[in-house]
Amino acid sequence: MGKIKISAGFRIILFVLGFILVAAQKIPTTLDGPFEPVTQRFDSSLRLGSDDLPMDHPRLKRNVTGMFPEQIALALSTPTSMWISWITGDAQIGLNVTALDPSTVASEVWYGKESGKYTMNKTGVSLVYNQLYPYEGLWNYTSGIIHHVRIEGLEPETKYYYKCGDSSLAAVSEEFVFETLPLPSPNKYPPRIAVVGDLGLTSNSSTTIDHLTSNDPAIILMVGDLTYANQYLTTGGKGASCFSCQFPDAPIRETYQPRWDGWGRFMEPLISRVPMMVVEGNHEIEPQAAGVTFKSYLSRFSVPSNESGSNSNFYYSFDAGGAHFIMLGAYTDYNQTGIQYAWLKDDLHKIDRSVTPWVVAAWHPPWYNSYSSHYQEFECMRLQMEELLYQYGIDIVFSGHVS
Ligand SMILES: *[C@@H]1O[C@H](CO)[C@@H](O)[C@H](O)[C@H]1NC(C)=O
Ligand SMILES: *[C@@H]1O[C@H](CO)[C@@H](O)[C@H](O)[C@H]1NC(C)=O
Ligand SMILES: *[C@@H]1O[C@H](CO)[C@@H](O)[C@H](O)[C@H]1NC(C)=O
Ligand SMILES: *[C@@H]1O[C@H](CO)[C@@H](O)[C@H](O)[C@H]1NC(C)=O
Ligand SMILES: *[C@@H]1O[C@H](CO)[C@@H](O)[C@H](O)[C@H]1NC(C)=O
Ligand SMILES: *[C@@H]1O[C@H](CO)[C@@H](O)[C@H](O)[C@H]1NC(C)=O
Ligand SMILES: *[C@@H]1O[C@H](CO)[C@@H](O)[C@H](O)[C@H]1NC(C)=O
Repeated sequence: MGKIKISAGFRIILFVLGFILVAAQKIPTTLDGPFEPVTQRFDSSLRLGSDDLPMDHPRLKRNVTGMFPEQIALALSTPTSMWISWITGDAQIGLNVTALDPSTVASEVWYGKESGKYTMNKTGVSLVYNQLYPYEGLWNYTSGIIHHVRIEGLEPETKYYYKCGDSSLAAVSEEFVFETLPLPSPNKYPPRIAVVGDLGLTSNSSTTIDHLTSNDPAIILMVGDLTYANQYLTTGGKGASCFSCQFPDAPIRETYQPRWDGWGRFMEPLISRVPMMVVEGNHEIEPQAAGVTFKSYLSRFSVPSNESGSNSNFYYSFDAGGAHFIMLGAYTDYNQTGIQYAWLKDDLHKIDRSVTPWVVAAWHPPWYNSYSSHYQEFECMRLQMEELLYQYGIDIVFSGHVS
């Protein structure tokens, strides 16, 4: 997309690739604008990269035991409902792992508009996933029990207090609070929207998330490449820095799934109160035995897939006040003959610009970039989809990938 209009009243705080493009003294809101676009000089200390935070770092370490909820996260469902996700039980990694039974622990959320008074409750679903490698020396992983509950009947621009867990096991979280977004309407917007991609779990990731948190966003777009668990310096627990030297015969690279759990804990203070909308990047592919891919991404995150009619966690859409967001999947079929394209066409057709004047699209790899490693990598996707996005006058596109 050649055109980026940012000045007409829709203020977005960009953290794409850790490049902080907009930094403000007093943080303005969408409704204080319009503003001239601001470009902040790239902090070249970020170019050095930084070391992975260790698994025993306070922000990554598991503080709870047994079936006590952890890694609590929010995602928008519809303007009047919200997904709440969390994990219970011990993930295991090693030479002989046994999957937990999701039916042993309930998925319950209690919520209401007053602290300590939960007038409503909902139950949801739970699951576990495995990351399996049938190759000598590589470790298998089986997750904790992942819970997803959709709470409904929420009023706009209202604070809700909630707890999650299983009351029969006395394993119930502390109280958290979030604020719902405005209903779709041309005059109401989330005060601030954070956009971040290629985050990882390093000390520079901490800088990024702390900065993002201090800007108090109402919603977060996470445009792919979340944890980099697939590049963590652990290979069969050996910590070898060169996977292919250590395991010359393994046909697929091991990904170290406990990094996802560390990331879930690292993000919890922010995303237990601010909804985060994810879309997959190449680092989420994580191939494992039997050609299975994207297992962690698909298991850990709720997105409004059914709500937006996509029925796929790889692409979906949602409204946030007067903005309609479309999250596209670059690592699934994007051809004009495919179901994503058919869904996109239908979704674009259904937008009422008198209700949501702004249409924002996001996907992981940019169609235009000058970075040698990824130059024209997604030219095929561009050729399939770009015309349709022009036809419907998409206002802004966000991507990551070229870090
Ligand atoms: C990123 O990490 C490097 C290495 O630890 C450090 O020198 C640099 O200051 C960090 N940059 C920021 C902005 O946090
Ligand atoms: C664990 O508890 C310590 C001390 O209260 C806290 O600083 C840390 O953020 C917690 N970590 C997680 C992942 O919850
Ligand atoms: C990992 O799981 C695969 C598939 O079930 C199995 O073939 C393999 O033996 C397991 N590896 C270990 C080290 O247990
Ligand atoms: C694997 O663990 C299960 C359950 O802990 C145990 O019953 C089984 O004997 C173990 N298998 C091996 C090969 O150690
Ligand atoms: C959950 O809500 C229902 C009404 O929807 C109510 O009957 C029930 O008592 C509530 N349960 C708990 C544990 O609060
Ligand atoms: C979403 O839709 C699919 C297919 O229609 C269905 O199998 C699935 O149960 C639905 N999920 C939820 C959470 O409603
Ligand atoms: C998409 O189209 C291209 C070229 O027409 C083809 O090579 C590719 O296999 C198609 N992908 C899918 C998932 O159908």
